[in-house]
Amino acid sequence: MSYPYQIKNLEAYHEAYKNSIENPEKFWGEIAEHFFWRKKWDKVLEWNFKEPSIKWFQGGKLNITENCLDRHLNTMGDTPAIIWEPNNPEEQHRTITYKQLHHKVCQFAQVLINNGVKKGDRVCIYMGMIPELAIAVLACARIGAIHSVIFGGFSAQSIADRLEDAQATFIITCDGAFRGAKDIPLKAVIDDALIGNKTIHRVIVCTRTRTAVSMIEGRDVWWEDEIKKVDAQGIHFVEAAEMDAEDPLFILYTSGSTGKPKGVVHSTAGYMIYTHYTFVNVFQYQLHDIFFCTADVGWITGHSYIVYGPLSAGGTSLMFEGIPTFPDAGRFWSIIDKFKVNVLYTAPTAIRSLMGFGLGPIQGHDLSSLKILGTVGEPINEEAWHWYDEHIGHKKCPIVDTWWQTETGGIMISNMAGITPGKPGWATYPMPGVAPILVDDKGNEVTEMEEGLMRGNLCITQPWPATLRTTYGDHERCRTNYFVTYDNLYFTGDGALKNSEGQFRITGRVDDVLNVSGHRIGTAEVENAINMHSGVVESAVVGYPHDIKGQGIYAFVIYTGSHGQDTHGTSDLVRKDILQTVTRIIGAIAKPDKIQFVAGLPKTRSGKIMRRILRKIAEGEIKSIGDTSTLLDPSVVDDIVKGAI
Ligand code: WT7
Repeated sequence: MSYPYQIKNLEAYHEAYKNSIENPEKFWGEIAEHFFWRKKWDKVLEWNFKEPSIKWFQGGKLNITENCLDRHLNTMGDTPAIIWEPNNPEEQHRTITYKQLHHKVCQFAQVLINNGVKKGDRVCIYMGMIPELAIAVLACARIGAIHSVIFGGFSAQSIADRLEDAQATFIITCDGAFRGAKDIPLKAVIDDALIGNKTIHRVIVCTRTRTAVSMIEGRDVWWEDEIKKVDAQGIHFVEAAEMDAEDPLFILYTSGSTGKPKGVVHSTAGYMIYTHYTFVNVFQYQLHDIFFCTADVGWITGHSYIVYGPLSAGGTSLMFEGIPTFPDAGRFWSIIDKFKVNVLYTAPTAIRSLMGFGLGPIQGHDLSSLKILGTVGEPINEEAWHWYDEHIGHKKCPIVDTWWQTETGGIMISNMAGITPGKPGWATYPMPGVAPILVDDKGNEVTEMEEGLMRGNLCITQPWPATLRTTYGDHERCRTNYFVTYDNLYFTGDGALKNSEGQFRITGRVDDVLNVSGHRIGTAEVENAINMHSGVVESAVVGYPHDIKGQGIYAFVIYTGSHGQDTHGTSDLVRKDILQTVTRIIGAIAKPDKIQFVAGLPKTRSGKIMRRILRKIAEGEIKSIGDTSTLLDPSVVDDIVKGAI
């Protein structure tokens, strides 16, 4: 495996960038030549952002697992594909070579076939971070089933909604998952999600924690038993399904500004090529580097930079089951030392939380194998950037600040390690093929600088290969969410700055979406969950700056009874009840950090909640609340300010 398209210096970046924008078909067509195709494409790109309709490599036939596994077997069969570090450091780690991974994926693909899974079926995967999760994902791709991984932190209700939306027919799960000192009963959550479900035929349960689980005859089967059957059949190889370039590869649910998460759909060839290209270039990946992405496969970062990007490049992907603070806050550093990790890709929230433990936990761990550091998920504050640079990278590792989204499939704006210059707090340069512009609220391109900076809403003018293709089951939703706000542009939902050198700094969401510890949460979704709590009349949720999480969730709640006190106890108890409801409806990740009981919400005469005012109160910026004269009842603001937490 070699990467002839790996960019080696600044001039080459500028050259590639120019070519990619002037002639995207030629640019991506040449890169695509380096992959394994059953049949070459007829046309590299056809698109319009009106419908939208985006088609890359039409007519091409391929299977992504042949590109991630089979094509490496001859030259790199014994190279580790996945190194897995368990939650408990006392437990043995596992190393799975390309040959072994190929074998395991074939075996499990046969399990899926034996259980009746067919090309195009939607398979929900709800597992902890064990190698079997990657195997399940790849086995789906091998037979052309569409995987939809759900993060282990989501509740039964969230899973039920997603199963319904995707019309999923199969589930792959575990008995439980180990995360830090906790043991999460995944199968029990699935059982709750399945009450009343009519579409699921089968649940395949992989053993991890050996927690007691109920196994329903005719519906639930054990992973290990199913593998034994495949062995008894004597099957070691499963032919990969021939997929169209534009066949959907997976659905991944993500929050937006409406109450219901949407199923972002990525298709096969474009996603594969783009995640591969960005992996190789942003991280300047060299064969045999140990690449450690600390994300969970339940999020897009894990899909693209634990599974598909690294494996398509014949890379070695380190997968970690646990959390950064277990058994102590030195866990990442001990893993880096243990496996001589070369590239670390993590989130600002993790860096900030580890910073809080001081330098002690780093001591005694040799971090000298590190060459490159990366961050993703939210803007990184300068303090965290410098700490990462000094204490983890020892000022010798470039830090790549990678901006992208579930919908973009892969990294969109980032420096390339050691190739293009980085800048603390700035994602900097667009990837080849990515054409970002800033527009004002009317959609006009911002061209004027103010104090050396342009400021606007971040949009993309032309498709890149991993553009989302649709939102599952509702194409209109995809159109209105991303392609209607500004004519003929993909709107990211983020605000950004651009300097005279053409570098970008992402300032954060400009819609009603929060970013809590790098996870996207829609305010409307949290409000819906709070409103389901008995006794809640109405609520409004906003974000506020949080030292570790980036943003915290602040909920203003109108509750029957006086300020949250009723026959059910004190307001503290009612707060806890509401948190419990949110945990049930969405999951613990969406729990508000603060709940303030209020008598009324600031509304305009037409009944719209003025979130701007609530945001100011939550941020503690009472002085800059601004004009309240358009409110139906301006006095509610004073009351809320008085009760602010
Ligand atoms: C939102 C996307 C992409 C994987 C993780 C999150 C924010 C992401 C950065 C960054 C500033 C960032 C944006 C974006 N974001 N990376 N490097 N700098 N902001 O994926 O859940 O789809 O969230 O995360 O606001 O829109 P996601």
